[in-house]
Amino acid sequence: MRNLSRMNREELAEFIRSGGGNDYEELMQEANRLRRINYDRDVYTRGLIEFTNYCQNDCLYCGIRRSNPNAERYRLTESQILECCSLGRELGYRTFVLQGGEDPYFTDERLERIVYAIRSTYPDCAITLSVGERSRESYQRLYQAGAQRYLLRHETANDEHYRKLHPEAMSPENRKRCLWDLREIGYQVGAGFMVGSPYQTAEYLADDLLFLQELQPHMVGIGPFIPQKDTPFGTFSSGTLEQTILMIAMLRVLLPGALLPATTAVGTLDPLGREKVLKAGANVVMPNLSPTDVRKKYLLYDNKICTGDEAAECRFCIQGRVERAGFRLTVGRGDHVDWRKQHDAVKP
Ligand code: 5AD
Ligand code: FES
Repeated sequence: MRNLSRMNREELAEFIRSGGGNDYEELMQEANRLRRINYDRDVYTRGLIEFTNYCQNDCLYCGIRRSNPNAERYRLTESQILECCSLGRELGYRTFVLQGGEDPYFTDERLERIVYAIRSTYPDCAITLSVGERSRESYQRLYQAGAQRYLLRHETANDEHYRKLHPEAMSPENRKRCLWDLREIGYQVGAGFMVGSPYQTAEYLADDLLFLQELQPHMVGIGPFIPQKDTPFGTFSSGTLEQTILMIAMLRVLLPGALLPATTAVGTLDPLGREKVLKAGANVVMPNLSPTDVRKKYLLYDNKICTGDEAAECRFCIQGRVERAGFRLTVGRGDHVDWRKQHDAVKP
């Protein structure tokens, strides 16, 4: 197989355009081999808590964008969030992902309090934040309070494309600045992008792969774009499962130790989507832990799955899917391999 890490933009774009061409089967085998070396058959779980759908941003693709009047807004209280964690811990999760829109209500002080409360109540659990673009100082404070991981998809590494997906107030420079700041502070960082977003080209996907090779994030969230009817992109078509699978396998080869989630969006696109991307190199699942009454309100895109299920149902549904696909659902914090090595090295 041709060496992906030596390919330039044009070569990567051509590889993507041809769907892997003659190298497709070998790519899949290589992705699986590298996943096995780094993570064996283990699939890590993270309990996802969607704690606010208020958002000051207006990303053109997103269902909870500020200017969607049909989004019914909610925010969980600190004690509701802690209840989710308590339930999650009973279900075996050792990582909680606090995800939300960019909600100004959650100031540094409020978020710090929440992170600190989770940290002290569940010292054996990892806390991941996914609350968008903030100042370096803010990231620093939240890290100090006990958050060790941060998810912020770069969305697209191509500046021109970025401006087509976002309002003028948002800039690709600031997005990337956030990611580099998070890395420098010491977070395990998750970047990522949508496959098949409006105006995306094979060259833009190549830019994503090149950017990720430079950033070297610990995690990369990749899912298909799916239209949401109240957004300006409501009539565009979804990304495809085939291309999502291809991008995940390519990333497993380019970043062999990465944590790659089988996202809810891929499960929405195809009933067996998550199983299929696990087989292409993904190794993380993020079952929903949010209270059932708010799930239907966190709608980034149409027809989202898992919005009617209890946390326990999601937990066991996911376990069945992972096991039927031939993998092992792992409890435990599920740190990135390199991070684990560093951490173990400093232990007495
Ligand atoms: N389709 C698929 N993914 C979406 N996201 C936002 N809107 C959509 C959509 N319509 C993704 C973005 C964001 C993540 C939380 O969800 O990449 O970073
Ligand atoms: Fe939620 Fe299947 S993962 S119902």
